Amino acid sequence: MAVNEAPGRWGDDAAQAGAAGAALRCTADELIAAGPVIPVIVIDDVAHAVPMARALVDGGVRVLEVTLRTPAGLPAIAAIAREVPQAIVGAGTVCSAADAQAAADAGARFAVSPGYLPAIGQACRDAGLLLLPGVATASEVMAARADGHALLKFFPAVPAGGVAMLKAWAGPFADVRFCPTGGLTPETAPQFLALANVPVCGGSWLTPADVMRAGDWARLAALARAASALRKPV
Ligand code: 3PG
Repeated sequence: MAVNEAPGRWGDDAAQAGAAGAALRCTADELIAAGPVIPVIVIDDVAHAVPMARALVDGGVRVLEVTLRTPAGLPAIAAIAREVPQAIVGAGTVCSAADAQAAADAGARFAVSPGYLPAIGQACRDAGLLLLPGVATASEVMAARADGHALLKFFPAVPAGGVAMLKAWAGPFADVRFCPTGGLTPETAPQFLALANVPVCGGSWLTPADVMRAGDWARLAALARAASALRKPV
């Protein structure tokens, strides 16, 4: 259980799975327990997927969100799922039910969407994927929560209100946890992780495009080590 959590306070994964859903391939608590930062990965060359994932895992970062923004996204998820069993690989930029199904078929264990559509929630339930639906307003939090989602991606976190917004949501949405992404940096991430309703955050800073292009896996491992050293204050 993450620091600052009271037992039973947060919504649980059973709510997302629901009576008709498949067993989740990864629960919110498993994802949170694996570390405080989820890299948001844009991959151009599928050959980079496995060495990149190994470097991140070596640096202590096991949860990997591979976005579907490039044609290499799905094959990269499949390669990581097959060859890097220590990683918990999921799909980001899931924008439709078909994306969710394709991610599940590739071997993803969770999905992240920039916004929320009930059809994506249903597709993830059917496929056994934990979904972190994107929200940026109170109404969106309410819609996602009503469908059983209790770990939400706050996106784009900094432009949409940052730490102040998360503090404001802690009152009415005391049972919801947030993964802020969008505009965070290694310097500002600790301010987000200090909040009781933020067990984990995300960002693209762990996999910079130039480092990926250069295949500088030692540099990626160093960035991962620094990110995994970020901790919620006790
Ligand atoms: C995203 O989904 O694009 C993430 O929020 C990444 O945002 P960042 O590049 O600002 O870290």
